[in-house]
Amino acid sequence: VFDFVDGGSFDEITTRRNRQAFEDMELRPHVLAGLADVDVSTSVLGQPLAIPVMASPTGLTGLVHPEGEAGVARGLHAAGSIYVLSASASYSLEEVASGAPGPNWFQLYMWRDRGFVAELLQRAQASGYRALVITVDVPMAGSRERDIRNGFSVPPRVTAKALAQGLTHPRWSTGFLRTPHMTFGNTAGRPVPEGTGLTPTEYVNSLFDPTVGWDDVERIRGLWNGPLVIKGIMRADDAVRAVRAGADAVIVSNHGGRQLDTAWASVSALPSVVEAVGQQTEVYLDSGVRRGTDVLKALALGANACLVGRPPVYGLAAGGTAGVARVMEILAKELRVAMTLSGCASVADITGDLLVAEQMTELMSRQQ
Ligand SMILES: Cc1cc2nc3c(=O)[nH]c(=O)nc-3n(C[C@H](O)[C@H](O)[C@H](O)COP(=O)(O)O)c2cc1C
Repeated sequence: VFDFVDGGSFDEITTRRNRQAFEDMELRPHVLAGLADVDVSTSVLGQPLAIPVMASPTGLTGLVHPEGEAGVARGLHAAGSIYVLSASASYSLEEVASGAPGPNWFQLYMWRDRGFVAELLQRAQASGYRALVITVDVPMAGSRERDIRNGFSVPPRVTAKALAQGLTHPRWSTGFLRTPHMTFGNTAGRPVPEGTGLTPTEYVNSLFDPTVGWDDVERIRGLWNGPLVIKGIMRADDAVRAVRAGADAVIVSNHGGRQLDTAWASVSALPSVVEAVGQQTEVYLDSGVRRGTDVLKALALGANACLVGRPPVYGLAAGGTAGVARVMEILAKELRVAMTLSGCASVADITGDLLVAEQMTELMSRQQ
């Protein structure tokens, strides 16, 4: 289960690169800014955020802890932020909406069965999800080799290795046995591929539609009554197409390095997307955000907010809802420190001049 969360695709080069790109960026702080306090709040699509960090959608989070996605959502709400629930969640979207009433967005994948997609949209709208996020970087799944090596499958197969792991992790096993969430909550009762014990990659490849195109995004725009966000944009020209197809915001993301390995870091792609569409739409960034300084750097490059994928899942694993809230508290505290030490009183003060000029020029020259 840990490897399923932690892993990336193939050689995990992009997963590592997401971190490296943040680490390589140097800050140029202001001093003696005379700050009594710093304000880390902002808003996205007109909705207030106490901290400019939301939680990205993660599938099968119920495998990590019995509270599952509702626990992550509650932790985000406690931090004054928004949870993006995955269509591939362990719990159904109705269960999460009632177990974690608060600002939730819903993330959609494109199943081959378009009737099911339309039905999911209706259910999400009826349950009060405030924005729709379409993930566009999974026409098929990037191969996660840790899952293959571990024999990780959905639902999990009981192998000798799994039993041994279960015995050495009694707290996890007890929780799991009490509230088993072994498969996908939203697809209950729907036809799933024949047989059991598919790896998540096999599951995705048998159900998701590789022929998905921009016309599908336009069609869904017509079906969804609310803000639309496109997740998985890595180039300026695709960002422009997303806006033309009706997006109100885009998420620059390489799926945490779980899809196209050797793709560039999402924070490296960010400036070109901001330059192309930042005047018309909001731009968010995920993939590799771990520290307050990472959030500061993304905002300095023009992002309106960041999202974190793995960190809240680790928080959930360690302490349920409270663990997720703690992760967000740490990020808020670190951002406050980073802003104070850079002379920024509010997120509006976080501008490009905080980054070393030559690095900004180099980033921009890599964009076309
Ligand atoms: C365990 C796991 C499951 C994920 N499931 C989904 C998903 O169902 N839908 C989606 O759009 N992205 C999914 N992602 C990608 C995240 O939304 C996000 O883009 C990525 O985790 C960000 O990188 P980070 O983990 O470095 O913060 C998943 C990521 C992880 C780690």
